[in-house]
Amino acid sequence: MAILELKNLKKTYGKGAQSVAVIHGVDMRIADGEFVVIVGPSGCGKSTLLRMVAGLEEISSGQVLIDGTVVNEKEPAERDIAMVFQNYALYPHMKVYDNMAYGLRIRGMSTEEIAKRVNIAADILELKPLLERKPKQLSGGQRQRVAMGRAIVREPKVFLFDEPLSNLDAKLRVQMRLEIKQLHNRLKTTSLYVTHDQVEAMTLAQRMIVMNSGVAEQIGTPKEVYETPASTFVASFIGSPPMNILKGSLSANGAFYTLSGAADYALAKALPAHGGKPYQLGIRPEHLRPVNDQENGSGIPFTVSLVESLGSDYLVHGSCPGLDKPQEIVLRTTKDSFAAGQHLQLTADPEQLHWFEEKSGKRVKC
Ligand SMILES: Nc1ncnc2c1ncn2[C@@H]1O[C@H](COP(=O)(O)OP(=O)(O)OP(=O)(O)O)[C@@H](O)[C@H]1O
Ligand SMILES: [Mg+2]
Repeated sequence: MAILELKNLKKTYGKGAQSVAVIHGVDMRIADGEFVVIVGPSGCGKSTLLRMVAGLEEISSGQVLIDGTVVNEKEPAERDIAMVFQNYALYPHMKVYDNMAYGLRIRGMSTEEIAKRVNIAADILELKPLLERKPKQLSGGQRQRVAMGRAIVREPKVFLFDEPLSNLDAKLRVQMRLEIKQLHNRLKTTSLYVTHDQVEAMTLAQRMIVMNSGVAEQIGTPKEVYETPASTFVASFIGSPPMNILKGSLSANGAFYTLSGAADYALAKALPAHGGKPYQLGIRPEHLRPVNDQENGSGIPFTVSLVESLGSDYLVHGSCPGLDKPQEIVLRTTKDSFAAGQHLQLTADPEQLHWFEEKSGKRVKC
């Protein structure tokens, strides 16, 4: 168990004119026993950040501290950290038991202690019947469990996971996600977990770091990130389908117009006191609904182009007017009452509207 701290952590690859800065100063304190997920699109620097914590990548500047001790100069083996990778990295010629025991043997641990630890881990991960098999005789999910077993037997201060589930099919991924969550509930080891999958991040994280091009765009609980995204980037990365972001302008009297001036969205009640300026308005697909009779038919003019059925609910795709082209909108609903070509007025409850600055995309506090 340990506290993990990242202090103004930066990474630049290469030297001089060829150098590329990929991590621009990340600060984070991960509490003892906390499960933190780093999430972001491909190439945003998730693995680089994790590998700096693991000691597999040199730190350009800033510090990594474990329980208050700076570990920048420590070898990976001295950091008391165990890492689980996407590609399992099991030894193909060794049985499951030996794959889990190997790291302990090279540390000179006694045979009895090794047997005890491997058996406990095999119990937790339900690997007992598979201990005599070789990796090629296992399914993908079982191999992933062995890779986790190898990390568990080390009894490290910190677990690091780099996309451990991305080689598995969708169903197995959900199952393994639950297993990782249960494992953490049981062991309560401080964990840093990397994924590009926002559903995995939302379900596993106690807190998450949303990364965008080497910057921690937002750090918070899944609920905070979903309910108050710090920027349009976070708003459109977290949530499926992503939040609708409409460009427009607020009039001084508090109505919302598309930049074409074609549509008055009449969301006056909900607007912040910033009238007369361009803004981006965010509304999640699940919060949009057709206006009701009391709202006098006044809302965002919406034309349906396509309806997708997900079984339990529907995604209604379409558009509203915009400056140079129509702006796309998705509505998520349980009602089977929409059809292509239909014209409607949409609205959302005031507390479910999100306002972002026009240029920076940063959240405007209301
Ligand atoms: N050795 C290297 N030299 C130069 N640039 C590198 C090196 N390794 C990684 N990068 C760059 O650093 C950036 C971050 O890479 P990183 O592997 O951390 O991304 P990631 O968020 O893990 O992406 P993915 O989801 O695809 O795994 C990328 O733009 C990548 O091209
Ligand atoms: Mg990566």
